[in-house]
Amino acid sequence: MTMREDMAYILLDREKIARRVSEMGALLSRDYAGKRPLLICVLKGSVVFFADLIRAMDIQVEMEFMTASSYGSATVSSGEVKVVSSLDDKIRGRNVILVEDIIDSGRTIAFVKADMLQKGVESLKVVSLLDKPSRRESDVKPDYCGFEVPDAFVVGYGLDYDQKYRNFPDIGVLKPEIYKKSC
Ligand code: IMP
Ligand code: MG
Repeated sequence: MTMREDMAYILLDREKIARRVSEMGALLSRDYAGKRPLLICVLKGSVVFFADLIRAMDIQVEMEFMTASSYGSATVSSGEVKVVSSLDDKIRGRNVILVEDIIDSGRTIAFVKADMLQKGVESLKVVSLLDKPSRRESDVKPDYCGFEVPDAFVVGYGLDYDQKYRNFPDIGVLKPEIYKKSC
């Protein structure tokens, strides 16, 4: 089976994603001109978006990586946020841009934001490729958002189901039997 055959449908194809990422890069370049922002990739889901976004920016940037997640291998947020690597020394006094793949319950980003704001950042904004506002539990919104998506579990372009489909180039919704198989 190819990965495409596991998808019920494609929600966002690679061309549409590329156009939007390029617009977002241009917007960030304009808003952060002369500021050399520190972009932080929230692993692992954001890695594909992050790689494209930084190359869509034509200003000087720096990058860091961190791990934070409220999901286990399920398709529903576990409610517990784990931050594995913290960047205390590196973010002080910086214009930080947190780069997320998707904001769902909002717990992950709310937790990371609150933590970073205590560490003396100069400014802090959140960029998320996808926003699923229907499932929000924390009062957070991305400052820059690629697409608003419906309440469906999506995979591809970095997003996974049980660590799979991250390398699928489009964003799609899996067939229901794919979840059933692994239960
Ligand atoms: P939150 O804490 O509920 O906002 O969850 C955020 C994280 O859960 C994201 O960074 C993703 O890694 C993961 N996640 C949320 N929704 C989806 C989805 O539809 N597909 C894949 N991963 C998701
Ligand atoms: Mg994530």
